[in-house]
Amino acid sequence: MEIQNKPIGIFDSGVGGISVLKQAIKVLPNENFIYYGDSKNAPYGTKTVDEVKTLTFNVADYLINSGVKALVVACNTATSAAINDLRKKYKMPIIGIEPALKPAVSLDRKGKILIMATPMTLAEKKFHNLMKKYEIKAEIESLPCPGLVELIEDGIFTGEEINLYLKEKLSPYIKYGIAAIVLGCTHYPFIKRELAKIVKDVPIIDGSLGTAKQLRKKLAVMKLLNNSSEKGKVEILNSLDDTRIIEISNMLLEMDI
Ligand code: DGL
Repeated sequence: MEIQNKPIGIFDSGVGGISVLKQAIKVLPNENFIYYGDSKNAPYGTKTVDEVKTLTFNVADYLINSGVKALVVACNTATSAAINDLRKKYKMPIIGIEPALKPAVSLDRKGKILIMATPMTLAEKKFHNLMKKYEIKAEIESLPCPGLVELIEDGIFTGEEINLYLKEKLSPYIKYGIAAIVLGCTHYPFIKRELAKIVKDVPIIDGSLGTAKQLRKKLAVMKLLNNSSEKGKVEILNSLDDTRIIEISNMLLEMDI
């Protein structure tokens, strides 16, 4: 098979990276995708960096052995823990994701920019470097959200539990004014509607479209774009041996967000 016709591997600690897969399908409709969710080991965000590195390499090895032409780490946590090491090991396009701080800052709105992400993403060097770049231009605050990924992995995207979780996290900031919320975890776009009910008229930004565009750019530069005129195929795999997780994944792929 010609390399251009090979699939693109996208992975996450679980179902969250489907928010990136959705955008990748829109931006690259003729590509084939293999999506791998490591739900058996989710959440990554409360583990140690070494544990996440090992898990990330296991999935990357699996996808690369399956013959993907490029790899998208659709997980902010895995990106912060392992992207540099992955790029050292594999000579193929590897695209990561990080909290989309730049578009939030450029909105230039009054109030604080809140970055919702996993504890690990917010504690890692990669995020601190990003903060250094923007903290002189805006007031930015990190909001670690342990426990939120678990709810989404369980197929809970709306309702009281999510609502209470978000209210508790965000209410201290509402009275001071929120400039924007950055979703620094690929699971969170699926609870955007619940979030919008609590913080009305606040822009909610995520990096999924930017990541998909970055993927397209990298493939074009490396002459790896699939030039088929047919719609590509999407295969969804998960480390959890449970049909429900595949059902949740398919539901998320269809969900309007
Ligand atoms: N979707 C992952 C991210 O973007 C969630 C990490 C986790 O499993 O805690 O950070």
